[in-house]
Amino acid sequence: MRGTKILLGVTGGIAAYKSAYLARELVRAGADVHVVMTEAAAEFVQPLTFSALTRHPVALEMWHRDQSTESEIGTRHIHLATWCDIMLIAPASANTIAKVAHGLSDNLLTVLALACRRPLVVAPTMDADMYLNDVTQQNLGVLRQRGVDIIPPAIGEHASGLMGPGRLPDVEVIIEFVRKLVDGRHEDLRKKRVLVTAGPTYEPIDPVRFIGNRSSGKMGFAIATAAAKRGADVTLVTGPVHLETPRTVDRIDVETAHEMHRAVLAAAKKQDVIIMAAAVSDYRPSKPSGQKMKKMSAEAALDLHLVTTPDILAEVGRVRRRGSVLVGFALETENALENGRAKLTKKQLDLIVVNAATKDNPVFGSDRNTVAFIDHAGHVDELPAMEKIEVAHRLLDRIVALRA
Ligand code: CTP
Repeated sequence: MRGTKILLGVTGGIAAYKSAYLARELVRAGADVHVVMTEAAAEFVQPLTFSALTRHPVALEMWHRDQSTESEIGTRHIHLATWCDIMLIAPASANTIAKVAHGLSDNLLTVLALACRRPLVVAPTMDADMYLNDVTQQNLGVLRQRGVDIIPPAIGEHASGLMGPGRLPDVEVIIEFVRKLVDGRHEDLRKKRVLVTAGPTYEPIDPVRFIGNRSSGKMGFAIATAAAKRGADVTLVTGPVHLETPRTVDRIDVETAHEMHRAVLAAAKKQDVIIMAAAVSDYRPSKPSGQKMKKMSAEAALDLHLVTTPDILAEVGRVRRRGSVLVGFALETENALENGRAKLTKKQLDLIVVNAATKDNPVFGSDRNTVAFIDHAGHVDELPAMEKIEVAHRLLDRIVALRA
């Protein structure tokens, strides 16, 4: 870890004393460590302990009474957010996790977590009941979705006497986690421009009704998260979804296939990689009503006249930059591989991800997915069921190999 700049955030809790060992071991491993503490943490461990171990003053307060210039007000220590290679919050209390998940920034530690664009690692540490509470789990889910790395807590006896998860893992486990992130954070897409589409499109029938589909957007968001972590400059064009924007990703919200078409084509030419995971509606009502449509009579049937939407992927295939990689998705309920292969050829893709929607692989809304990759040379790679974020990384591995 020689030369790695680590910003260690310490929050209040009995485990704060273990962070002193953590700081010492990080320094021994060659890292340059700065510590930021919350007020509560400083109740458990003297800041002096950390400054002695890291040989840097501990960042504690946002405001200083002895401000010499006005420009220093509020910007004190904020440079630590851009200085660091990694920010590690260990122990991370339930309170700090909740604040970071919701963008609250009422102390220096949470300000830095909010401002930091580098990888953020969080080690949740709290009583087992607090850890298992739905609210805490939801907050951790929000962080995970945004690409924050969570070190799973250890299970054991707590200071309160409770047994269960929520203990700070051994210092060696945390260091190993950080080391893997530093080594394994092969930023193999560093500065590469990656465009991802996600979610469904909504095609209006009238001002209150639309034709849509069950896509949750999770697969596209997982790809955007993974690509951003691997150093890419990611643009995410998404239809209507209920998902958090992954950290450092530029998000463009659209509703209809036409809007998605416009946004994607405006950005397509400058991309190194384009991954079209959106479930774009193939049809739209030809003349959406300006007013809410009234029910006619109880017996009368309603005919909707539909026209096709632009095939965005096929068009991108024609205008994309030479040397760029174009990936499409195929959702199939029958003859998945055969249909996938046909789409790959027809839309001039480098790779297609085939989803076979079955009872065992619901695809839409699930956090897991079972897919196969088919490349332009006809090579088929069938993956077992796995988390969508893992599918995303496997896909990016294939893309990096194709680029090479
Ligand atoms: N796609 C697109 N624009 C559309 C329809 C689909 O860009 N109007 C993209 C999707 O994002 C996906 C791929 O095309 O990457 C395949 O989508 P899919 O609906 O499975 O294929 P279609 O070509 O529409 O064929 P079909 O619906 O007949 O299976």
